Formats: sequence, C-alpha cells, structure tokens
Amino acid sequence: MFEALAEAEGHYLSGQRLADLIGCSRTAIWKNIEELRKSGIEIEAVRKKGYRLIHLPDGLTENEILYGLETKILGKKVFHFDTTPSTQLIAHQEAAKGAPEGTMIVSEEQTSGKGRMLRDWHSSKQKGIWMSLILRPILPLEKAPQFTLIAAIAVAKAIEDITGLEPQIKWPNDLLLNGKKVTGILTELQGEADQINYLIIGMGINVNQESKDFPDELQEKATSLLIESGEKIKRKILVQHILKNLEKYYLIYIEKGFTPIKIIWEAYAVSIGKTITAQTSRGNITGIAEGITNDGVLMIRERDNQLHYIYSADILIH
Ligand code: BTN
Repeated sequence: MFEALAEAEGHYLSGQRLADLIGCSRTAIWKNIEELRKSGIEIEAVRKKGYRLIHLPDGLTENEILYGLETKILGKKVFHFDTTPSTQLIAHQEAAKGAPEGTMIVSEEQTSGKGRMLRDWHSSKQKGIWMSLILRPILPLEKAPQFTLIAAIAVAKAIEDITGLEPQIKWPNDLLLNGKKVTGILTELQGEADQINYLIIGMGINVNQESKDFPDELQEKATSLLIESGEKIKRKILVQHILKNLEKYYLIYIEKGFTPIKIIWEAYAVSIGKTITAQTSRGNITGIAEGITNDGVLMIRERDNQLHYIYSADILIH
C-alpha cells in the first residue's frame, strides 16, 4: 500500500485502483490509510480523485525503511517505537521469542540507552539512529566480538557513501569524525553450550544533532553528521545503506571468514602504528598498536617488545 502510493510519486490513486493493486476491499484500504497517517505519513484524500502521498517525514517506521530497501535478510521485519528505554532490551525479548534473523528494532528516542562497559548512551529524539539488529549465525561464542568490527565497517562505509565524510574506527567499536565520536556499537549475545544462539548488534549513530543537543559532558567528545557535513541527513537512507552493507559484509564473512573483513577494517582504523594506551580491567598497557589478529583481537607491542593481545579495553590514542 505504502509502496503503491510512493511509486505514484505524488499523483492520485483512486481507492478502487489501490484495492485492485493490493487485492483487498476499499474498506481495508481506508483502514490502511488511517494506519499510515497515524505513523506520521501525510496522505491527502480528495473525493473522486483518491489518495496522494504528500509528505514523508524523516521517520524510521517499518514502511519507510522497507520502501527502497535492497536486502534479502536484514531489516525485513522492523519494530519501530517513538520511545523505549533501550532497543537492546526489546531486541533480546523478541529474539528470545524466536524473531527471525535480520529483525530490527528502532526507536526515535531511548530513555536508558546502553553503551559499552555499563555506560549510558545519549539518544535524543529523532536526531539519531538508535537501532538493534538480531543475527543468528551458527558459530562458536568466541566469534561474537568480530561482529562489532563487521558492523563498524558497514556503518563507516554507509557514512562515507552518503556524506562523503571519512570516518575512522577506533578499536573496537567507535567511529570518529575529527577525533570525536559519531557512532558506537554494542554487540551482545545469548548462547548455549559454546554456540551463539543469537547476537544483538546495537548501533547508535549521531545524525542530525547540533552541538546544543549534546549535554555538557559530551561537548568535547561527541559529534554528529550534521555538525561535520553541515547538512541534514535523511536517517532512513542511512539505515538502508547500513543494512545493505552489513548484509554484504556478513555474507562475505560467513563465506570467506574474517580475513577480508580485517583488511577493510584496518583501512578505516585510526590507531594502527600509533602509540596507544589500552585501559583494561587488569591495568593499563601502553605501546604501539600493531593491528588486529585474524579473530579481531587488538595487538599492542610494549617498549620492551612484549606483544599483548587485548580482548576488551578503552583506548587512548597519544
Ligand atoms: C558504545 O559506544 O558504548 C556503544 C553504544 C551503543 C548504543 C546503541 S543505540 C541502539 C542500541 N540500544 C542501546 O541501548 N544501545 C545501543
């Protein structure tokens, strides 16, 4: 229904024409139109002419995301919320109920957005993309962290394609523009024995915030695509690019393993060859970042030549 109206590109479609196209009654069409209107899509109804799509808000409803989406698996089912504590929580609930691979949860606002290491994630209304995706790869548990890196390159490439900006990735999950964070990725998993049952990939992308939209403590640390490019971005287009890229990299990974992903990831990496400090739960390690292993683990060489493998840490770049 939404697709038929969108394809008519602002021209009227009669109720009968819509009913024929979709194969339902005119009463069902009317109900459908009301539902689309409730989701924020403006549709004009004129007697004897029919229905016409007037304005598409910068929304992320299922209809808006599905229209023009070029994927086979990811984003085919979308749960959209105006507000929710965290899309991660809903994604866990839906995954536990059996939601299929590719199901996506997106919210215009999160009231308790979650970051890594139990931090909060600031998610202001309609300014960013706050989404979680359910994946069900048949893989051992230790492969889960690789998905953070797969998601990072998918988002980096989408930002590059749409804005022309050149994001850099700070291991493992931060996307930076001008040294400030524009995206964070949080991968959570549920497993049994040593197999992944499902993965939840949470992505928080700062899109249309102005500086004043960030709280004081984030002023120096966070940025948005609007701040960096000077242009407002249609979030739906960015979501569609992310889903397409992620599906492509996911399939490459399943078919060929992590090596091709590693090569792409390293091309975006900000810290390789630089002196960094990894703040781990067992203390700080300072040295040169040598790269990542074939499993996505960060390697740091200390001055005494000792090589450290970092599985989880915050990174400071010197
Ligand atoms: C980080 O950099 O610490 C990760 C941030 C992840 C934020 C996203 S926003 C959508 C999803 N829902 C959440 O509560 N968190 C993730």
